[in-house]
This record gives sequence, C-alpha cells and structure tokens, in this order.
Amino acid sequence: MTQSAISAPTSLVTGAAGFIGSHLVDALLARGERVIGLDNFTLGRRSNLAAALAHPAFELLELDVNDVPACLAALTPRLAGARPATVWHLAANSDIQAGGRNPSVDLQLTFLTTFHVLQLMEKLGLRRLAFASTSAIYGALDCELQEDSGPLFPVSNYGAMKLASEGAISAALERFLERAWICRFPNVVGGRATHGAIFDFIRKLRANPAELEVLGDGLQEKPYLHVSELISAMLFIHDRAGEKLNCFNIAPVTGASTVRFMAEATVRAVAPDAAIRYTGGARGWVGDVPKFRYSTAKLRALGWTGRLASDAAVELAIRENL
Ligand SMILES: NC(=O)c1ccc[n+]([C@@H]2O[C@H](COP(=O)([O-])OP(=O)(O)OC[C@H]3O[C@@H](n4cnc5c(N)ncnc54)[C@H](O)[C@@H]3O)[C@@H](O)[C@H]2O)c1
Repeated sequence: MTQSAISAPTSLVTGAAGFIGSHLVDALLARGERVIGLDNFTLGRRSNLAAALAHPAFELLELDVNDVPACLAALTPRLAGARPATVWHLAANSDIQAGGRNPSVDLQLTFLTTFHVLQLMEKLGLRRLAFASTSAIYGALDCELQEDSGPLFPVSNYGAMKLASEGAISAALERFLERAWICRFPNVVGGRATHGAIFDFIRKLRANPAELEVLGDGLQEKPYLHVSELISAMLFIHDRAGEKLNCFNIAPVTGASTVRFMAEATVRAVAPDAAIRYTGGARGWVGDVPKFRYSTAKLRALGWTGRLASDAAVELAIRENL
C-alpha cells in the first residue's frame, strides 16, 4: 500500500470477492478510495478480484466477518491513522434455496454477519454503513413495491434474515451509527456471477447440451438489473442521500424478464439444439417469489435512472458469463 493510498478515504467491503462485491471494489478504487476487502470465500473467488489485487490501494483479507476478534485484530492496525469512509456490507448467503433447506444458513450468513459487522464497527469507531438488502424482504406482496409497502412478511429465510438485518441497522442508528444506506436490490445479473438462474442454466447446458431443466413453469417474472447499473445506483444513493437512514429500491429503467426468456436466450447462446423442460408449478422453489414489480419513483426523484431494460441486462449478462 503506497503513502498516497493510505491518506485516501478508506472503505471496507464485506463479501468483496463475490459477484457484486468485486464490482463494487473496482468502482471504489476507480474513484480514488483505499479499499480493504473481507471475504471468507464460501462463494467468492479470488479471480473476481484479479484487477483489484494489482491495485496499490487494495488489500484483501481472508476473514469470516462472524469472527469478530479476528477481524478486530486485522483491522485495528490497518485503520490506525486512516480516514474512515463507509463500510459496505455485502457478505451474506446468496443461495436462497440453500437457506430453504437449512434455515441456520441464513441465520449465520445473512443475519449474524450483519449483527457482527455492527459490533465490529462500534468497536472500531466506524459510523457509516451501506447495506445490500433485497426485494425478498417484501415477501409475496401483490402490489408495485414501494419502500414503505407492507406489512412485511418474507416468504424465505433469506428475506427474513435480511429484514432482521435492516432492523438491527435501524436500532444501531439510535446508538452509534451516524448514517446508513439500505439498498434493496432486485435480481442482479452480469459478469463474475457466482450463482443465479443464468449461472445455473449455463452450467447445466455445458454438462448436458441436449436438455435444460428449468424449475417452475417459466412464467416467473422479475426485474433483472445489470451489475454495472446496480453499482452506479448504489454509489449515487450513497453520495446524494443524506438522511440518517436512507432506504431505496433499485431496479432497471423498465421492464421485467420471464424465466422462459432467460432460458431461451441462454439456450441460443450455449446449446441451440437443447430442449427446455419445465418442472412445472408457479414457484421455482420453496421461498421463491414468482412475480414482483418494483417502484423506483424514490430513486428517480433522487436523480438516478439506468439505461438498460431488464431483457437487455439479461442478454448482456449471458454473454459476459460465457
Ligand atoms: N445477486 C443478487 O441478485 C442479489 C439480490 C439481492 C441482494 N443481494 C445481496 O447482495 C450481496 C452480494 O450478493 P452476491 O450476488 O454478490 O453474492 P456472492 O455470494 O457472490 O457474494 C457474497 C460474498 O460474501 C462472502 N461471504 C459469505 N459469508 C461470509 C462471511 N461470514 N464472512 C466473509 N465473507 C462472507 C462470500 O464468500 C461471497 O464472496 C449479498 O448480501 C446478497 O444478499 C444480491
């Protein structure tokens, strides 16, 4: 780490080696920040950070954020004399189906990671937190989802533990946090994916180019946002939203995509002769929310709009993951 890198504002990114975390690290470095990334590599990959690891202002710590003493020991000397910026907390379980099979996965990786990041921040005197939340906190509400829609009854353990995390952050604002940004992501797609429908479809088609099995009836329909637009929106919200607690939905400029569209586009790109077999049923798996619509009126009022419609984001993401 160079001297000029040390005097730059220092951001922490948890889940730095994951899909979204690695793109966020690149963006923070590009705007001149010093970045310390934490990841335990449950799903993250060092290769996602190939460019960042060559940057003098980046350091990657292989740590479990649930191990508060180990994180404190590593971070205390590194933050001495630093200008602390924001902690971007992205570490979580991102495999919603795994949390359906075993609820303790989301207790440990989705809720306790937030609880422990808050503990760590209090001990380190860090007071600004940006949090990766999700549309899953709204459950199966049948309306255009706004930030104040409710009642909030999630249908997955993942959504439940993200909602509990939002609650813990809100309570921490009463004690020691100065400012928090809660960003509720839709489905996010793009290069370096570690999971998700496109990732699964490509993997399945490479293993069996004759047939693609798709969970559900293919009519599930959700907004898909390209990761480049997500990062742009997150930074915009962080820089412009100045309330103590800032909560925003983030979604593509228009539209939603069906699973059928994603499956057919992936087949065209990977194995054009493959037959698509739908397992049937409206829900792909326990905890799936088959359809939702997101209002981004609040984000547009703040001044951010994206460029890519949902279907265009899906097609771009397929090409980037080939
Ligand atoms: N990808 C999406 O569509 C989407 C949608 C809504 C919300 N989110 C949220 O965005 C964040 C990033 O998601 P992603 O898609 O990049 O997933 P990802 O799995 O690629 O990234 C999460 C990272 O966190 C790391 N991690 C998990 N537990 C950890 C722990 N205890 N200590 C340290 N590191 C740990 C994993 O190794 C991984 O690198 C997550 O909080 C996720 O819930 C993602």
